[in-house]
Amino acid sequence: MEKRKLGNSDLFVNPVGLGCMGFSHASGDPVDSATAIKTLRQAYEMGYDFFDTAEAYTGIFPDGTVSYNEELVGAALKGVRDKVVIATKMGVHHNEDLSLRLDSRPETIRSSVETSLKRLGTDYIDLYYQHRIDPTVEPETVAETMAQLIKEGKIRYWGISETTEEYLRRANAVCPVTAIENRYSMMARWHEKIFPVCEELNVAYVAFSPMANGFLTGKYNPNTKFEGKQDYRAGMLQYTQEGYEKAKALLELLTGMAQEKNATMGQLSLAWMICKKPYIVPIPGSRKISRLEENFKAGDVVLTPEEVQKIDDKLSTMQFDVFGGHSSK
Ligand SMILES: NC(=O)c1ccc[n+]([C@@H]2O[C@H](COP(=O)([O-])OP(=O)(O)OC[C@H]3O[C@@H](n4cnc5c(N)ncnc54)[C@H](OP(=O)(O)O)[C@@H]3O)[C@@H](O)[C@H]2O)c1
Repeated sequence: MEKRKLGNSDLFVNPVGLGCMGFSHASGDPVDSATAIKTLRQAYEMGYDFFDTAEAYTGIFPDGTVSYNEELVGAALKGVRDKVVIATKMGVHHNEDLSLRLDSRPETIRSSVETSLKRLGTDYIDLYYQHRIDPTVEPETVAETMAQLIKEGKIRYWGISETTEEYLRRANAVCPVTAIENRYSMMARWHEKIFPVCEELNVAYVAFSPMANGFLTGKYNPNTKFEGKQDYRAGMLQYTQEGYEKAKALLELLTGMAQEKNATMGQLSLAWMICKKPYIVPIPGSRKISRLEENFKAGDVVLTPEEVQKIDDKLSTMQFDVFGGHSSK
């Protein structure tokens, strides 16, 4: 498994990174801290070297206390800090009703970076993302603040999540961007048009929700029950009866190809993007050791350019209902 260089940086990571969000946020009740820390440490020991978290990844335990994802990641990676790449994010806060409040004003970024450093128990962040574009703050202002944080040694590199081409170009002109982190999966391909820009500017594409929130593993169906308000999958289109019906042809395609490749469906969905471009790094998330292992090994599944193209051709004939945007067609 050859490591990938993240954009303009000197950060090298394995082809599959780890999305840590689910231990605290959006996947039901948070995992108890001791188990989460142990599992994240086991992930490091099995080879994961790129950990994705965010200031906003918090969740409420049944007793009302808060799970701070960055604290779990920091505790799990104690003693191996220099062997891993930690990415975290600022600029998003969750309201009571789970709607987002965006704030990327320089003073907020400065206060957020201190919070994240403290929670992570580190004195530098390898990759610091703007989690969402704040329409009230210009990209140049955000980029200038990031440049100052790099100068001060608080962060090493920076990135933007769910960026547009225009925003990326304007920000990059002020302070070079190392990576973007946008949604990308077989069911969510609308950001593919930004690939040439990543190539031109030497920016890595970190793919979030790379298995369409777990759907592409083929292990779920419309009868699967998710745990209410804190499990966002309960409201996702791909998990409705209609969404499932629309994706059936894709699940069949994945089943067949996975058998041919001696891989699982989830692995195939990750290998498809890893083999498509050398600058794409998916960050699937799981709270279970066996699945972490399965996902990590997707980095060993090789698809030829012809096989990737065959999948793309099929995908172009399909339409999906999927969380996060419009159908991929
Ligand atoms: N930048 C952003 O705005 C943004 C937004 C969303 C996510 N993210 C990042 O991207 C990461 C991954 O995204 P995601 O969690 O939304 O989607 P995902 O990785 O596509 O899917 C994760 C879901 O699939 C399940 N799963 C994982 N591996 C599995 C396997 N092998 N078999 C069956 N089920 C499996 C997990 O459940 P279990 O835990 O029960 O295994 C989890 O609920 C997050 O952790 C986060 O770090 C970033």
